[in-house]
Amino acid sequence: MASMRNLSLTAKVNLVIALILLLFFALSTYFSHRQQTRFIIGEAVEKSRIIAFEAINTREYLSNQYQIGRVELSEERYGLIPVVASNRIGALVGQDIGYAIRQVSDRYRNPRNAPDAFESAVLQTFYEDRERQEYYSISVIDGERVFRYMQAFTADESCLECHGNPEDAPDYIKALFPEEEDPAYHYQIGEVIGAASVTIPMERLAHQIYANLRTEVLMTGGIFLALITCLGLLIRLSVTRPLAQLGSVVSDIVRTGRLEEKIPSRTGDEIGALIVGFNDMIDNLREKTEHLEESERRFRLLTENAHDAIVSFLANGQIILFNRRAERLFGYGKKEVLGMSIDHLIHPECVSLRESGAEAYLRREGEKLLYRSHSIVCRRRDGSAVPLELSLSVTDSEGHRFYTAFLREPPA
Ligand code: HEC
Repeated sequence: MASMRNLSLTAKVNLVIALILLLFFALSTYFSHRQQTRFIIGEAVEKSRIIAFEAINTREYLSNQYQIGRVELSEERYGLIPVVASNRIGALVGQDIGYAIRQVSDRYRNPRNAPDAFESAVLQTFYEDRERQEYYSISVIDGERVFRYMQAFTADESCLECHGNPEDAPDYIKALFPEEEDPAYHYQIGEVIGAASVTIPMERLAHQIYANLRTEVLMTGGIFLALITCLGLLIRLSVTRPLAQLGSVVSDIVRTGRLEEKIPSRTGDEIGALIVGFNDMIDNLREKTEHLEESERRFRLLTENAHDAIVSFLANGQIILFNRRAERLFGYGKKEVLGMSIDHLIHPECVSLRESGAEAYLRREGEKLLYRSHSIVCRRRDGSAVPLELSLSVTDSEGHRFYTAFLREPPA
């Protein structure tokens, strides 16, 4: 988390955008896949229904045509029996399109029409629930995922000719399927006699699912990517870049100490307001600095040109101001004397001051020295003594106490 906080704003924005994109792709793939699967299954159901109706209609059409044309069926014309013909046609069509199309029954005549475990179970549900006309689900055959559809056949009057009372069946049927061996007689009208069964390999459907999914995800993904890119660009132009500019100007100012640079502000938004505020602050600061420099210059002129020698020092005796007159009087240059202790400026003749040191002495006697003239013997750089008149003032500023000594040679 800490490393996350240290990332640049651009990196953070990019990271968030990447996460949003990833989430979007995951979600849209998931939902598209669900929708596509539902859509494809709907399609498969529709196709299967058409196939089942084709089978039923083929059968009915042939029956009608035989009646009208008085076609006599026989053992030799077995393949023309409507049920047989529609079953075979279904099988042929199935071969061509890669589906399996069958008509099955628990009480089958032809072992080729025996149901498999799945079909048996579904037939069972048809027997139990008469309202139920169709059933479909995804199942597995030989390790391969398949879509399976079944539509119940109920016996009507016409079926009973060959599936009702065996005595009423045509002779060739009786000959081929003797009553004792054949379980497909004795049906009642309205009874479930079997079902159309359609099996479609999922691979064929999935192929379409993935093709559709790819286009859909690519399309929406493309649009989203474009949107996100625009958003990222907008953030970069209106937030991160101005902020980076602000940051570099601030660090420039810190580095050079010059308050001249200004950041161009183009927008009226929050960042724009920040930049305007920053520029104003810089203006303000520059004015103040100029004033300060001006008053410092005046102060310097004042002290430098003063007739008295002026020496300012902290409570510990450390010298912080030494004017030109003091330089001349003591023989020290400003550079060497600043930071030094005033102890060095006191002649050994001033015994008590020398002995206790400036700091302790000032603490003890400081008050007495203030605002009155005293005579004091000072020490020049070369060690020679110089008697001077001293008047001392004290100032407290920001928790520091400092003293200013005004020194002059006594009138001769
Ligand atoms: C003209 C005689 C005839 C009529 C009418 C007839 N069937 Fe059949 N049915 C057969 C024969 C023969 C088979 C065996 C098919 C085969 O060899 O594939 C069969 C098979 C079936 C099968 C497949 C299971 C099995 O027993 O092999 C179903 C299901 C079926 N018939 C349903 C019907 C329905 C429903 C009707 C009425 C709409 C009907 N049949 C009318 C003769 C007939």
